[in-house]
Amino acid sequence: MRHEKDWYKELVIYQIYLRSFKDGNGDGIGDLKGMIEKLDYLNELGVNAVWMSPVYASPNVDNGYDISDYFSIMEEFGTMQDWEIFRDEAHARGIAVIMDLVLNHTSDQHVWFQESKKSRENPYSDFYIWKDPVSDGGAPNVWMSVFGGSAWEYVPERKQYYLHLFAKEQPDLNWDCLEARQKIFDIIRFWNEKGVDGYRVDAISYLDKGLDGRADFQEKIGTVACVNLEGTHRYIREMAAETFAPDHLMSVGEVNINHEQDARNYSSAKSSEFNMAIPFVLPIVEIQTWSPEKMKRDLEKDYQALKEDGWWARFLSNHDKPRQVSLYGNDGLYWKESAKMLACYIHTLPRTPFVYQGEELGMTNVQYDSIEEYDDIDTKNYYMSMLSNGASKEDALAESQSISRDNSRTPMQWDDSAYAGFSTHKPWLGVNPNYVKINAANQMQDDTSVFRFYQKLIRLRKENPVMIHGHFALCCSKEGPVIAYTRSLEEVTWLIIHNFSEEEQSFEHEKIQSAEQVILSNYDEVKMENGQAKLRAYETLIARIE
Ligand code: NOJ
Ligand code: CA
Repeated sequence: MRHEKDWYKELVIYQIYLRSFKDGNGDGIGDLKGMIEKLDYLNELGVNAVWMSPVYASPNVDNGYDISDYFSIMEEFGTMQDWEIFRDEAHARGIAVIMDLVLNHTSDQHVWFQESKKSRENPYSDFYIWKDPVSDGGAPNVWMSVFGGSAWEYVPERKQYYLHLFAKEQPDLNWDCLEARQKIFDIIRFWNEKGVDGYRVDAISYLDKGLDGRADFQEKIGTVACVNLEGTHRYIREMAAETFAPDHLMSVGEVNINHEQDARNYSSAKSSEFNMAIPFVLPIVEIQTWSPEKMKRDLEKDYQALKEDGWWARFLSNHDKPRQVSLYGNDGLYWKESAKMLACYIHTLPRTPFVYQGEELGMTNVQYDSIEEYDDIDTKNYYMSMLSNGASKEDALAESQSISRDNSRTPMQWDDSAYAGFSTHKPWLGVNPNYVKINAANQMQDDTSVFRFYQKLIRLRKENPVMIHGHFALCCSKEGPVIAYTRSLEEVTWLIIHNFSEEEQSFEHEKIQSAEQVILSNYDEVKMENGQAKLRAYETLIARIE
């Protein structure tokens, strides 16, 4: 597909975590064939872009985020030919193809690393970050990796440590090495030529490690110590100019935002880095700190930082987070209402909505009975560290259940047949038992389903530029569970109200006249008149007020 400048603003992006989406060959693992089979489903939903989690060859220590060969497809997922069929079939339906690029690190099985670790003199010697031990033979500094343990691993052949901000099987690339950068850009050019429309770029805030004295050497977590340094922005600009910008390919960086300026650097048009950014927050921090009040503060802050020429990814779910209806909504009594409310929230906020697979069905968290049933490296490390800190097995399991990334990685619930119609074989990760009730087949026959609600929102966006380009203004109290805002473009103004609680709330706005103003809601009848709306549990509504 050829792209005009700014085409990305019109996208609704659907994230596919392949391993769990649809198994096309009956081995219990999702794959490209399965994705091809489900393109009509995506088309019916109405999305116009698919971001696929990494599909490249990988030993899967971190499910594809450890790449051993960027030029080939992981055998379990299929072949390059399958990928090309997917690309063509997606394009035929007007669906853009967005690939995941993992460029902060490779797998330790990648040939560059295999060579690099052999000696200090080989051609790849400088492709990774090697440092001598300190005088007692210990690691160069106190940094810990994201998945626990030291961020440094010793290699006897080189008598040096290499840096890994994630698992030890994910050595960090050395972006200060010009040759490494050129090889990285060649990877992107290879996929550009294959007709990719855009990229989601993984863990991109740590390219410049600042080991020459600019990073924080007291800070324990490596990714915090070297986040957002100057060189990172310089390297992103270089990459964007050489690879994404010439053909207006869409780019979204997964980034860490600590200050407003970080947000501007990564995603304002002027800074020439990414088209938009996905801010990363650790699930455990999100679980412990989120509240509707905090959401309101963040909305205001983001909008102020980016309103001039910034763009932003809007999402509540991805493969690293708990299921949104379980975290921000209510996956019991108000499951359906709250799943719809969260959908309306994401789709009516300024900038680009991302839908994570299964979210459009209101899929929920899972609770496996034992740690052995979990797959996620982060969950397993977390469980072990709780045990070694003296927690009981029950407590360690309970906490691991709530933070586990497997909550969002359970197989897609297509229908109520065995294994939820995901596969004919026992899946790599257990199916959530609620698939008998929550599944796509059911919801496609039901006009009031969560799926149909998503479909309506996506259609509404296509028909109403106010949802894409409208000015945004919060119009609710800073306190309490009601989040309300207006979106306005030329003569049109929409008022959008959400009740993030089970309790009834009332909301006042001078332009509320009657229920006839309502464009969409998750209740059959809306109670609003004379300047006031009465909101039931998790009620959401869009009303036209001008
Ligand atoms: C962020 C990805 O989303 C996550 O799944 C992965 O573990 C890390 N980056 C490391 O690549
Ligand atoms: Ca398969």
